[in-house]
Amino acid sequence: MKLFDPLKIGAMTIPNRILVPAMVTHLCKEDGIVTQDTIDRFARYAAGGAGLIVVEAMAIHQVKSGPLLRISDDKYLPGLRELASKVHETSDSKLVPQIIHFLKVARTGWRQTADMLSLEEIDQIVEQFGDAVRRAREAGFDGAELHAAHAYTLSSFLSRVNPRTDEYGGQTLEGRLRLIGRVMANVRRKVGKDFPVGIRFNVEEFIKNGYTVMESKLLAERLAEFGADYLSLSAGGKFEDAVHTPGQVLYPYNGYSGDRCFPGEWLPRGLHASLAAEVKSHLLSKGHRVPIAVAGKLDAPHDAERLIAEGSVDIVGIARGLLADPDWPIKVRRGEQDRIVQCDYCNVCKALDGTHKTVICALWPQGSIQAPKDDPAVQAPQWAQVDTSLTAIPRESRVELKWPKAPGAANYQVYRADEQGDPQMMDAVKLTFWVDNGVLGGHTYRYFVRPCAATGQPGQRSNTAMVE
Ligand SMILES: Cc1cc2nc3c(=O)[nH]c(=O)nc-3n(C[C@H](O)[C@H](O)[C@H](O)COP(=O)(O)O)c2cc1C
Ligand code: SF4
Repeated sequence: MKLFDPLKIGAMTIPNRILVPAMVTHLCKEDGIVTQDTIDRFARYAAGGAGLIVVEAMAIHQVKSGPLLRISDDKYLPGLRELASKVHETSDSKLVPQIIHFLKVARTGWRQTADMLSLEEIDQIVEQFGDAVRRAREAGFDGAELHAAHAYTLSSFLSRVNPRTDEYGGQTLEGRLRLIGRVMANVRRKVGKDFPVGIRFNVEEFIKNGYTVMESKLLAERLAEFGADYLSLSAGGKFEDAVHTPGQVLYPYNGYSGDRCFPGEWLPRGLHASLAAEVKSHLLSKGHRVPIAVAGKLDAPHDAERLIAEGSVDIVGIARGLLADPDWPIKVRRGEQDRIVQCDYCNVCKALDGTHKTVICALWPQGSIQAPKDDPAVQAPQWAQVDTSLTAIPRESRVELKWPKAPGAANYQVYRADEQGDPQMMDAVKLTFWVDNGVLGGHTYRYFVRPCAATGQPGQRSNTAMVE
């Protein structure tokens, strides 16, 4: 299989194996209604050619939570319809909303846990999920995705640290799966078998006593039996190891499990891919062909292509890589890898999400709330002097790089190679200096910088500066 081969997911066929996983945008207001900015964000991914676009998490209930989309009432249908139809007009990308239920949190650091829900409240959640998926179908989406990952209600029930002692927990796998099983059964009652419903859940929780791939294989097996049309694997993002900031609600992404969910530049590329491959091979061994997606620093085109070619997974999720450059699919398809605006995993977007501010990418031009429109005619930025004069100066166990401005550059990609290796992109910055804190004394390093236009056109490399 190849990255650009279509894939049938239940009744829908996605045109390629590239997935935009859900990413909250905070482009709506507190009322949770789709805005023009929301529509523009998702239509932009469609224009860029992603196979499957998951719209940011939208709530099935009315609990307060800042600017978050809602699907908890029919009054949200007109906006959702407009969103779905704009994406469909734009390209053949398929579109599903991510549907979420979350428990209450307070600024004191208090949070409602799964064991505080009464049986009546659980029944209500089952109903709310069913009604939300019904609305997704009425709004013209191609399917829906249930959010059972990270710190939210379905995930808290699946968790190995689910504290309930009744039939919805009790430290048994079956108990932990009971809520999502009821949700899936109700969803099917409301929308039938032909409406594709995927489930996103954690391949590992990455918390103390949390589940690992040993159990997520079994969870995946049972979710496939429940009739999930695809399984999208994420990781971590839990309240259990979150650090409380006084006066703020608990943010489930600031502990180690949060690092695994939004892996920063210091974590390896494709860090969850081998776990996903284990799940996939377990499912195949049990006769389940349900498509598997995974996310986590998979924006290097050769990684994405390899995972699909090997059959490790069926779909590659690229969240921040496609936020930075929604045209990633088109550029890879045309062999214009060189023109991709490469995410450097700085996590500015994560910080914006954490403070409920409009989510943008730090590499976009100043003041933009959407990725710049692709324009292949834009001239690549050029260095003003032929000899660029990049300097690299070792200072107290670090190397400090400086270079002059290149007219027309929106950002600069910094590359480093050691004695034997190929150059690796280390960072993408808007300023004209960069500090390398990760060097080993006694080794030789070579650096160069490339200026890039906002639409990704790379200029010529600078001179190579060497440090011994
Ligand atoms: C700004 C932002 C918002 C996110 N919002 C969601 C969300 O609503 N639901 C979800 O399941 N994951 C969410 N994620 C996690 C991503 O879907 C993805 O799993 C994560 O960024 C790792 O993939 P990547 O390395 O390709 O970015 C969000 C990530 C970012 C950067
Ligand atoms: S803000 Fe940073 S981490 Fe987020 S998409 Fe842009 S480059 Fe990537």
